[in-house]
Amino acid sequence: MDQAGLGPSDRSPGLSERYAVIGNPVSHSRSPWIHARFAEQTAQKIEYGTLLSPVADFAATVGGFRAAGGRGLNVTLPFKEEAFALVDELSPRARAAGAVNTLIFSVGAMRGDNTDGCGLIRDVAANQGFGIAGRRVLLLGAGGAARGVLLPLLEESPAVITIANRTLDKANRMVGSLPPTWRGVPIVCGYSELEGQSFDLVINATSAGLGDTPLVLPRNLYLPGSLAYDMVYGRETAFLRAALAGGAARSSDGLGMLVEQAAESFFLWRGVRPVTATVLAALRAA
Ligand code: ATR
Repeated sequence: MDQAGLGPSDRSPGLSERYAVIGNPVSHSRSPWIHARFAEQTAQKIEYGTLLSPVADFAATVGGFRAAGGRGLNVTLPFKEEAFALVDELSPRARAAGAVNTLIFSVGAMRGDNTDGCGLIRDVAANQGFGIAGRRVLLLGAGGAARGVLLPLLEESPAVITIANRTLDKANRMVGSLPPTWRGVPIVCGYSELEGQSFDLVINATSAGLGDTPLVLPRNLYLPGSLAYDMVYGRETAFLRAALAGGAARSSDGLGMLVEQAAESFFLWRGVRPVTATVLAALRAA
């Protein structure tokens, strides 16, 4: 059996196997381009497209794609929580995230995984050479984006992980949904309580930048050598601008995370790990 739970006889030699990213909207997605590069590079015969789902019809759209022979889907906004509720089996990281971004169709079962956190860790640790172990980490936000990365961040053994959110209750609920052994580890606070604290890695997982309402963060948040990371990609955000002006040694948008989470999904489906550096460089140049 391979990663997708398929034996050799389940595969159709010679025919391309079908995958897609499902969302609403979805036409802007770079995932088809990224997966096409991965497929070329690894000589895997796949087709990967976009699948626009009506907001009220996610389960039926997934079912239709699967019935037509689809092998797997990436799930993007606004369906990650619905995908979580739909699957037969959940990976531990998807369970902790409360969200699924990768659906794997095997004979008789639909499995759900979440590769977002792993994508962030690979981008920070491997692409940027920034080791998280022993570092002071600040995670801003407690929505879906933050939930997707919290457990993988904890598993890297930072010295401290603080979660700041406007709504404390939401952050506490996010910590409460971690596996029991991790629940006591993160520190939860409001933005004003960050005054006087500083960190090696500050990750913006809020949607504040999308509305161009800048986050109000205290001064002196950044330790020497620190990295400011925004999960948003494709533009220099107000958060990153303020971080560099406020003492962060370097900054990164989330483009590398996008490519790395895609690579992990590709691996789950195909059992082959693509090389991401060239794909990321080409995407950045474009
Ligand atoms: P999703 O689950 O889709 O990621 P969400 O649940 O609305 O979206 O979460 C968005 C995150 O951005 C939340 O952490 C939100 O903070 P609250 O939980 O306090 O609402 C955060 N956020 C959005 N706009 C913000 C702003 N202007 N300042 C600070 N935090 C903001």
